[in-house]
Amino acid sequence: MTTPLLEVRSLSKRFGGLQATREVSFSLREGEIVGLIGPNGAGKTTLVNLITGVLTASGGSVFFKGRDVTRQRPYEAARSGLARTFQIVQPFPHMTVLENVAAGALFAAGAPSRRQAERQAMEHLEFVGLAPLAHQPAASLTLPSRKRLELAKSLAMQPKVLLLDEVNAGLNTAEIEKALALMRAIAARGITILLIEHLMKVVLSLSQRVLVLHHGELISQGDPQSVISDPKVIEAYLGSKFAARQQQLAPATGALHG
Ligand SMILES: Nc1ncnc2c1ncn2[C@@H]1O[C@H](COP(=O)(O)OP(=O)(O)O)[C@@H](O)[C@H]1O
Ligand SMILES: [Mg+2]
Repeated sequence: MTTPLLEVRSLSKRFGGLQATREVSFSLREGEIVGLIGPNGAGKTTLVNLITGVLTASGGSVFFKGRDVTRQRPYEAARSGLARTFQIVQPFPHMTVLENVAAGALFAAGAPSRRQAERQAMEHLEFVGLAPLAHQPAASLTLPSRKRLELAKSLAMQPKVLLLDEVNAGLNTAEIEKALALMRAIAARGITILLIEHLMKVVLSLSQRVLVLHHGELISQGDPQSVISDPKVIEAYLGSKFAARQQQLAPATGALHG
């Protein structure tokens, strides 16, 4: 078996009396799309923050490309090819959309000049469908467009692994179809993806494997169909209505907002 690209071993985080993640272990193999689901407060964003050095783990370790990166800083994670999007988007509001993405190309991916960075940034904006808004101030974007900006920024860091924290929140049905195509196009570039997502349609269409967090613990993992029929997952997250609907529909196409 090949070494996993990213390996999380017994990762725990405690905030005072709250155990936000408890001994979470999983790995991502090169080229995979793995879904990470679970109710609000389950610890999904905390996990991304631990993996990218935004938070320091209370226990456990993270290996990236075989190297122990548990104590790395966020900029080191980004430069090494481990990029993420933020669930709470935080662009530089007064800079243009293009400048926001160019900043990522300059600082994380080491573009040799500002002009070069802006040229790369424009390619990423075209890729995510934001090119027409390139010269608008980031503050003027709607929430779904800000999520696309987050995605373009993370792509500008030329990642090997991309941790996507609810980048598709707030999309309508037509936009979801476009988002599916976009996620597939990212994977086709050889980028390994951990997809945190409430829209089950998106998770089930894209993920080769799914991980389920509940109260900070990984309660189930496996291929999408076995995970959504796991009684623990139905009880903790999906609900019995979802399960009944899934049994009538094949292939799975349910949507869940949570
Ligand atoms: N910086 C923090 N300080 C204290 N508690 C936090 C912090 N970040 C997250 N939490 C708590 O940890 C738990 C997991 O949160 P989070 O990882 O954001 O869950 P999810 O992303 O799955 O919705 C929640 O109870 C949340 O309130
Ligand atoms: Mg979250």
